[in-house]
Amino acid sequence: MSEKKTWSDRFEGTLHPAIALFNASIGFDLELIEYDLTGSVAHAKMLAHTGIISASEGQTLVTGLEQIRQEYREGKFNPGIEDEDVHFAVEKRLTAIVGDVGKKLHTARSRNDQVGTDIRLYLRDKIEEIRKKLREFQAVLLSQAENNVETLIPGYTHLQRAQPVSLAHHLLAYFNMAQRDWERLGEIKGRVNISPLGSGALAGTTFPIDRHYSAKELKFTQVYGNSLDGVSDRDFAIEFLCAASLIMVHLSRLSEEIILWSSQEFSFITLKDSCATGSSIMPQKKNPDVPELVRGKTGRVFGHLQGLLTLMKGLPLAYNKDLQEDKEALFDGVKTVKACLEAMTILLREGLEFRNERLAEAVAEDFSNATDVADYLAARGVPFREAYNLVGKAVKEAMKKGKLLKDLTIEEWQQLHPSFAADIYEAIAPKQVVAARNSYGGTGFDQVRQALTRAKSEIEIIN
Ligand code: ARG
Repeated sequence: MSEKKTWSDRFEGTLHPAIALFNASIGFDLELIEYDLTGSVAHAKMLAHTGIISASEGQTLVTGLEQIRQEYREGKFNPGIEDEDVHFAVEKRLTAIVGDVGKKLHTARSRNDQVGTDIRLYLRDKIEEIRKKLREFQAVLLSQAENNVETLIPGYTHLQRAQPVSLAHHLLAYFNMAQRDWERLGEIKGRVNISPLGSGALAGTTFPIDRHYSAKELKFTQVYGNSLDGVSDRDFAIEFLCAASLIMVHLSRLSEEIILWSSQEFSFITLKDSCATGSSIMPQKKNPDVPELVRGKTGRVFGHLQGLLTLMKGLPLAYNKDLQEDKEALFDGVKTVKACLEAMTILLREGLEFRNERLAEAVAEDFSNATDVADYLAARGVPFREAYNLVGKAVKEAMKKGKLLKDLTIEEWQQLHPSFAADIYEAIAPKQVVAARNSYGGTGFDQVRQALTRAKSEIEIIN
C-alpha cells in the first residue's frame, strides 16, 4: 500500500496488503479505462455547463483526462494495486497532472454511478463489435449456401437418416439463427443504452446537475428515472450474457455437426490443414480442434450467465460490492463470443471442404426416399396412412432382399399397389425428392433460391 490512503480522514490505518489485493479490481477493470475517461469527460463538461465548476476548470479536467488517454494508449499508464480500481487510478493521475482542480472531478458523482456508466458504454461498443462478427459469419454461411444449392446432404431426425435436403438449406438454418442473434443484440442494446450517471451513490445529489446533458454527451438515448435502480441494475448485463449464450448454443450445434461430418463414419467434409491439428502420437489423425473448442467454450459463457444471475438474486438495494464481480463475467463472455465467431467464420470460409461425391453417395444409399413413395401413392388417391403402411412393407421386403427402394422392379412395385408406374423411379431419385419439397420454407431448390434472396437482403442491413 502507498502511504497515502484512498479514504477520508475517518480512516487512520491502511489496508492489510492481502485485503488490499482481495478488494482491488484494477487487475481486470483497466479494460474499462477508455470508457471511464469518456464518462469522466462528459461529467466534467456537465459540471462546467451547469456552473458547478467554472468553464476553465472544466476545460482543465477534460484536457487532463485526454492526456491520460494518450498515456494509456502509449502504454505509459500502468496503475497498480495501490490504486484499487480504474476510477481511483484515473482520479489520482488526473490530480497529478492538473493539480488540485483534479479533485473537483468527483463532485456530484459516486463510483457507483460511474462504474455503471462505464460498463454500459463498454457493452454498447462490444455489442456492435459482436454484431459485426455475426454479419461476417452470416456472409460466409451465405456464400457457402450459394455454392451448394443443388448439393444434397442427408437430413436427420433423431440422428437417423430422414429425408435428403439441399446443403444450402442446411447452412441457411444457421444463417437464420445468426440473424435472430443479430436482431436480439440490437434489442438488448436499447436497454444497455440508458444513463445511470448522476444517480450518485444511490439517492441522487444535492448539486444542480443536468443528467440529460451528460447522457447526450455520451449518446445515451435515455436516463434512469430512479437513482437506486440506476446504480444497481445489471439486467442489461444478464440479458447480454443470455444473448451471448444463445449465440454459443448456435455455434456449438454447428460445431457438433462439423465434428460429426469430419469423422470417418460420416466423411462429409475434409478439414484443411489451416484449421485442423494432428495428434502427438497417432500420425494418421486430423482433429477438429476448432469446433471442439467452440463447443467447449460454450460452457463458460453459460457459466457467466449463471454466475451473474446468482450474483444478483439476493442483492438488497442499492450498490453492493458484490457487483464488482460482474466485470470478469462480462469481459470473458464478450471475448469468448467474439473469438468463437471469428474462428467459425474462418473455418467455414477456408478450413473445410464438402466432399460432394461422398454426399451424393450418402443420399442415394438409404431409405430416405420412403416418404416420397408414400406421397406418390397419396397423390394418386391412396389415403396417406394406407400408403404409409404399404411403403413400410416395401421397405421391409427390400431390406430382406438386400435392395434399396430404387432397385425394386416395376413388377415388385405393382404387386404392392397397381397405381405404381414407371415414373416412380424418377419420383424417388434424390434430386427429385429434394426438388419436390417446394412448400414455403422447405428444401425444394426454388424455395432455397428464394431463401437465399431473402438472406441477402437481410444482411445488407447493418444497423
Ligand atoms: N470497483 C468497483 C466495482 O467494480 C467500483 C465501485 C465501487 N463502489 C463502492 N461503493 N465501493 O464495482
